[in-house]
Amino acid sequence: MAQRRLRKTPKTRVYDAAILVQTARMRIAASVLCCLPFLVTGCASPDEAEPAEPGTFASVRPVLETNCVHCHGDNRLSYMPPINDTKALRRLIGPGNWIIPGKPDGSRFFQVITFSDEQPGAMPPSGHAITAPEVSLLRQWISAGAPVPEDHTIILHPRGELPRSR
Ligand code: HEC
Repeated sequence: MAQRRLRKTPKTRVYDAAILVQTARMRIAASVLCCLPFLVTGCASPDEAEPAEPGTFASVRPVLETNCVHCHGDNRLSYMPPINDTKALRRLIGPGNWIIPGKPDGSRFFQVITFSDEQPGAMPPSGHAITAPEVSLLRQWISAGAPVPEDHTIILHPRGELPRSR
């Protein structure tokens, strides 16, 4: 008698435990689903919600932070132009300089981002991707005279991993 009861008890316990685990899983799934809309809207940062006017510095800042600042920051090689703050960036702008205001096609800074992946000197270097809309924003910014705020310095921070094209 005592032996039979002993054998039964563990089985029932296992069963109960399985139901508990299942219920807990359903509760977690339900709460995740309920939170999803909040999680998604919570992710959108202000400048993604409201794209900046093309031609302005605000419109190219995310492009530079996504594609260039990872390498062109404080640890860059000495001969690489600095792209990680507006003070440094301003020194790249001018006639005969990396960025020639009003002349994207004559600007080395712009030329290298239009090179094909296979071409030596393509930026970002081969294996990384910059999108056509991003290239267009840089073109419009340089065409508009490459304006950069002068009254204060903005530090640019790398955004995310560098996107790879292959
Ligand atoms: C993965 C690292 C990396 C990224 C990302 C990167 N660069 Fe470079 N960049 C380099 C290196 C290394 C050099 C120097 C060697 C060379 O010219 O290939 C360089 C050189 C340059 C030069 C000088 C080219 C020349 O002809 O002397 C310019 C201008 C430039 N980068 C602009 C950019 C811009 C604009 C971006 C973003 C769209 C960018 N780079 C993204 C690594 C990078």
